Amino acid sequence: MDRHTAEPTAEGLPGPNAAEWIEFHSEHAAPSEHSHDFVWDVTAEADGPFVTDVDGNVLLDFTCHIGAAPLGYNNEKVLGKLREFDLVEPMKIAGQDMYFGAGPDPEESPFPGSGHLMEKLCEVSEGYGMDTVFLSNSGAEAVENALKITYDDAPSAKYGFAFEGSFHGRTMATLSVTRSNEVYTRHYPEISGVRTVPFCSDRHCTEGECDCGFSTRDGSQLRRALAPEGGHVNPAEVAFVVLEPIQGVGGYRFPSESFMREVGDVTDEYDIPLVVDEIQSGVGRTGEMWASDHYPIEPDVIASAKGLRVGATISNSELFPSESNRLGSTFGGGDILSSMQGVFTLEAIEEHDLLANATERGRQAKELLRDDAPNHVADVRGKGLMLAVEFDTADRRDTVVEESLKRGLLTLGCGKKTIRLLPPLDSTEREIELGIGIFADAVDAAADEVASAASS
Ligand SMILES: Cc1ncc(COP(=O)(O)O)c(C=O)c1O
Repeated sequence: MDRHTAEPTAEGLPGPNAAEWIEFHSEHAAPSEHSHDFVWDVTAEADGPFVTDVDGNVLLDFTCHIGAAPLGYNNEKVLGKLREFDLVEPMKIAGQDMYFGAGPDPEESPFPGSGHLMEKLCEVSEGYGMDTVFLSNSGAEAVENALKITYDDAPSAKYGFAFEGSFHGRTMATLSVTRSNEVYTRHYPEISGVRTVPFCSDRHCTEGECDCGFSTRDGSQLRRALAPEGGHVNPAEVAFVVLEPIQGVGGYRFPSESFMREVGDVTDEYDIPLVVDEIQSGVGRTGEMWASDHYPIEPDVIASAKGLRVGATISNSELFPSESNRLGSTFGGGDILSSMQGVFTLEAIEEHDLLANATERGRQAKELLRDDAPNHVADVRGKGLMLAVEFDTADRRDTVVEESLKRGLLTLGCGKKTIRLLPPLDSTEREIELGIGIFADAVDAAADEVASAASS
């Protein structure tokens, strides 16, 4: 397969082999969220955004495994480097409890490991004065440890702030700050003292004009909650404000500059650590390394994962506990292959100018999506290749996802009536044109289907 000429060819998904794999998998797997009726064949051909399933269907994947495969499949920009190394056994090494090296000297190491990944992460976050990383296994752990370090830093803290519509992971603490779908959180106990304020979901809001509920005539909800004359939360007792700079699961909600400025100003003024969850929006997805880079905020802690292949809590050494054993995880960041992939992904972004590519291809995609968009497309938005199309109803959104799949394009829903599109960061002009063309056909087909369902 060659991504420069490949075309999707899909027929009757899921096919008979896929049905068999799904049945086999479901026999012992706990019921979980399955995002696609598509079964990847990891032994079959794949290149960049193109991938083959167990029935031989070829799909154009505009989801990148919800961002966890930022360069798509079998990408030479990462694979080429991985192939150079003669790894004896890509085993999982117990991580935080031991040091490990490769050869006598980290500078001359024959391959990068977790130490190199941490070095690289500090490099790309040095604009925020960050110099220290705690590696872990997942996004949830990255946020969990971000919250832990803020509590450690403020022993008398009783409160934290989260935003409506947020998703931060599925551990108990991260669910305590998750405010999106109640199926994630129902009946689970919460850490105490988490207050919720509205998130700005209209990127055009200004301080004076905001219907999102965050800004009121008497100041923002965050500021009012902390103000001595009416506030009920003592700022000295607040451990953190945790924010997705762009909400993912909640609906690819892009906030306004004025909202972000206010969050930045309030956390600065009261010296409250601002934890940004960049698990979906980071590692180049938006055309900047971190989505935070687009906004007037100065995060104190960044939580990253997905595209890095490991979880990472990144901050300044002053915020991290100095006491050993205060944080830890047996396999935290110890997986050699994952750390290497993380390093090579960050290197690929740099070496191939993929931030610029994501910006340019994102612009192309938005233009194509907006061109002749029918009335039932309520909004087309995005930064870089973190793109969203919002529809008038959830039914129509779901039908567009199905129609896209029938045509060989993988997309993903989010929020109530939105589709998210995450093409690989190195997508070409042809791939964007191809994918958005299929998407437009799916939108038209969904319009016919929804119209005929309404008239019958
Ligand atoms: C914004 C955000 N935070 C946290 C998480 C949790 O990451 P993980 O599934 O790796 O635990 C996700 C996962 O989708 C996410 O999108």
